[in-house]
Amino acid sequence: MRIYLSRPDITEKEVEAVCAVLRSPNLSLGPKLIEFEQAFAEYIGTKRAVAVNSGTSGLFLCMLALGIGHDDEVITTPFTFIASATSIMMAGAKPVFVDIDPATLNIDPAKIESRITGKTKAILPVEVFGNPAGLDKVCEIAQKHDLKVIEDSCEALGSALSGKKVGTFGTMSVFGFYPNKQITTGEGGMILTDDSDLADMCVSLRNQGRDKDDDWLSHKRLGYNFRLSDINCALGIAQLARIEQIKAKRRQVAQWYQEMLADDDRLIVPAEPNECDISWFVFVVLLAENFTAQQRDKILQAMKNSGIQVGNYFPPVHLQPVMVKEFGYKRGDFPITESVCERTIALPFYNNLTKDQIETVCMTLKKILHKN
Ligand SMILES: Cc1ncc(COP(=O)(O)O)c(C=O)c1O
Repeated sequence: MRIYLSRPDITEKEVEAVCAVLRSPNLSLGPKLIEFEQAFAEYIGTKRAVAVNSGTSGLFLCMLALGIGHDDEVITTPFTFIASATSIMMAGAKPVFVDIDPATLNIDPAKIESRITGKTKAILPVEVFGNPAGLDKVCEIAQKHDLKVIEDSCEALGSALSGKKVGTFGTMSVFGFYPNKQITTGEGGMILTDDSDLADMCVSLRNQGRDKDDDWLSHKRLGYNFRLSDINCALGIAQLARIEQIKAKRRQVAQWYQEMLADDDRLIVPAEPNECDISWFVFVVLLAENFTAQQRDKILQAMKNSGIQVGNYFPPVHLQPVMVKEFGYKRGDFPITESVCERTIALPFYNNLTKDQIETVCMTLKKILHKN
């Protein structure tokens, strides 16, 4: 028996779409790139979309397009995937962390203002695990202090807050298409914005600093090769066309978990706040507060030994060796994040997980909890 943490959901339609590009003369910078960007901008509801080769590249290009660099600070959460913070560093700026709200696991809006300095240029909120709760309050603070918002929506394609889609809150926003995401392009990302100057800058930066009508060997500025090939884009178009079906499948999987784990007071099971429409990215339960990190790690190991893949999303970003070395962050700096990180268990989660498999996961987890 083996139940995986994550599996992509690729149908024959996707396979055909990719093969059609392979049979065409346009493997990159072709019609599928334009089609994917247009379909994505239309789905989210922004004026522009710029496809790139990863979510990380997308976040980095947002920094550059907004002119964020040396001696600047960007406020973000320490409870996220590392790229939310390293994209700030790649631009030469400093990630300034603010602890999370234990109810939403997102950056705590009430703690942001005290960390704003003369060097702060932007806030980078993350919809952790797909949950957009609190994003509106972050944007209000940014507006009050004249700061940009770079929305890291890499985990939240299809989520909405009070009816407003994730990806439309920030000055710029970024989605990611790694295979564990709601839709995948193999690798890939998308930058969204209503500002056409920012979008044009990203188009140039992803393509070796060429401007739109420039000759292939003319380079206006320091640029990169962050292009997304038409092969990837064709996969993305076919996946995006199924987004409502994908969301429904993920919602069902989350509901089964919620039902089957509701009766266990050793676990805190994620719920959907009223104002949120969550497009579930992963399903992460928290152990009750009396559990230690050592107990959690033993439980993770026991689950793996039973053939069930689980994860510890996320270890605290501020305690990653790179952050300690660069900025001297230390244990105790963000106590809520640290406590949450010690108690997370990411359970198997993907579109086609069956009710029987979920039953097996839940029964195994409860048995292991009983012994610990
Ligand atoms: C919150 C968050 N930000 C950024 C990224 C980076 O995306 P990518 O892996 O496509 O570079 C991810 C991907 O896992 C993520 O979860």
